[in-house]
Amino acid sequence: MTEVLDVRAMPDLGKDDAAWWRQAAVYQIYPRSFADSDGDGIGDLPGITSRVPYLRRLGVDAVWLSPFYPSALADGGYDVDDYRDVDPRLGTLADFDALVAALHGEGIRLVVDLVPNHTSDRHEWFREALTSPKGSPARDRYIFRDGKGPDGAEPPADWTSAFGGPAWEPVGDGQWYLHYFATEQPDLNWDNREVRDDFLRTLRFWSDRGVDGFRVDVAHGLAKQLPDELPTQAELDALPKDGTHPLWDRDEVHEIYAEWRAVFNAYDPPRTAVAEAWVQASRRARYASAEGLGQAFNFDLLEADFDAEQFREVITFNLELAETSGSSTTWVFSNHDVVRHATRYGLPPRHGSTDKHGGSWLLSGGTEPELDRELGVRRARAATLLQLALPGSSYLYQGEELGLHEVADIAPDARQDPAYFRNAGVDVGRDGCRVPLPWAREGESFGFGPAAAVMPQPDWFGDLSVEAQDGVAGSTLELYRDALALRRELQSDEDLVWVSTDDDVLAFRRSNGWLNVTNFGARTVALPAGEVLLSSVPLTDGRLPGAATAWLRTEV
Ligand code: NOJ
Repeated sequence: MTEVLDVRAMPDLGKDDAAWWRQAAVYQIYPRSFADSDGDGIGDLPGITSRVPYLRRLGVDAVWLSPFYPSALADGGYDVDDYRDVDPRLGTLADFDALVAALHGEGIRLVVDLVPNHTSDRHEWFREALTSPKGSPARDRYIFRDGKGPDGAEPPADWTSAFGGPAWEPVGDGQWYLHYFATEQPDLNWDNREVRDDFLRTLRFWSDRGVDGFRVDVAHGLAKQLPDELPTQAELDALPKDGTHPLWDRDEVHEIYAEWRAVFNAYDPPRTAVAEAWVQASRRARYASAEGLGQAFNFDLLEADFDAEQFREVITFNLELAETSGSSTTWVFSNHDVVRHATRYGLPPRHGSTDKHGGSWLLSGGTEPELDRELGVRRARAATLLQLALPGSSYLYQGEELGLHEVADIAPDARQDPAYFRNAGVDVGRDGCRVPLPWAREGESFGFGPAAAVMPQPDWFGDLSVEAQDGVAGSTLELYRDALALRRELQSDEDLVWVSTDDDVLAFRRSNGWLNVTNFGARTVALPAGEVLLSSVPLTDGRLPGAATAWLRTEV
């Protein structure tokens, strides 16, 4: 590895630059498992503030904060009791302001998670709906339907929720409410003007507090149009998702985001947003348009195997798509919903696999049948370097910079994910990527906080802690730091040119001569001429070993 320029000393993000998000490296924090300041075993906002120097040294441009609002944690905080407050276990609004100030002081922007598809069942609106009669304005904020059969004792339809189990819940008077996710997450009715206005208020509330952008949860689900006669689940599944489906990706959803856009653009710089929209790739562009949310997640690389051809296809397709929307594309390998990529890449390939992992392990936390830990991390490091060399935004998930693996062996009574409880024995859920971070080699919670963490950490976390990797040449943490520092220097416009090599090797060049070479195969390969800036593993006599990436500076 050659010497890396120390550009990390001076973050210069151009604070007034309205386009900051286009090429940003965004670091996702799952607040309850990042850092605990007060010893209650749960991560909190002051804990994050205390780690801002770490984030600065890591070299990220922005933080995306998963929900930190008051919540019973029926779905890890995605069940929100109050959209304009902080969970008292995580801190106060004053702590939030202190976090914004600390991040901005280091030139790091803040994107907060917004959950508009559903509230929690403890939200004051839902409580009011439960004590209000059928047909009342309070019930109109949600999606209530009469049950079938005598006294409405049967559900209005046989729909299944995303976490398993029924999607309709009775409230005792013959009516049922829709919850596409957990029972504690009643779906909102976005045809209701009061719902719309209240979210506009929420957008302003956080924007006024200095938030730079929003990550929009289930962005494709807000606009629903349920016919009087509800289809069965099988009929629902068979309907095309072309803008006319009763539940998903309806065209009218963009009217909502046009209203949001007007709010975003009233700020200087305009607030940004990124849609979590699981839609047909060709329909992603509308979410990402400048009249809409501005950017949309692309999970295609996350779903691909560690495979040159799959990567090339996904990259080419998404760069073209970004051109149609005028946005920049997004890249992501790990987040709080999926098995960490270091682990996925140490398991048999998913596509084309006929074993029991062929389908669902991506979202399941599983690490069987046989995890090759070393290979997984090695590939993950190679994939991340490739990601960071691509045009567009890179979304990184806390702990991936430590090369953390999924924690597979969490005891049933320590699990928290509704996907586990609603799918007993089928899906182990997403807790395995949400285990509190190890900051120190030793100690009750490996430096996560002054006491034990609520969710237990495995013994092997100590060796992967920040302390164990800080300043250690070749560690995953130092690789991320070097890569992010270089990226800040080299990331420029949005072009990419493929440089043809061979089947297992993907090489692309940016217009400034920055060349990325990723070797997906096992053979060691020669590198093109140029100055080697960084590599995911040491080179062998100047050649690139298997499952590795190198960055080069080449003549333009
Ligand atoms: C997507 C979020 O990322 C996930 O964690 C959550 O369970 C669902 N949306 C429901 O809010």
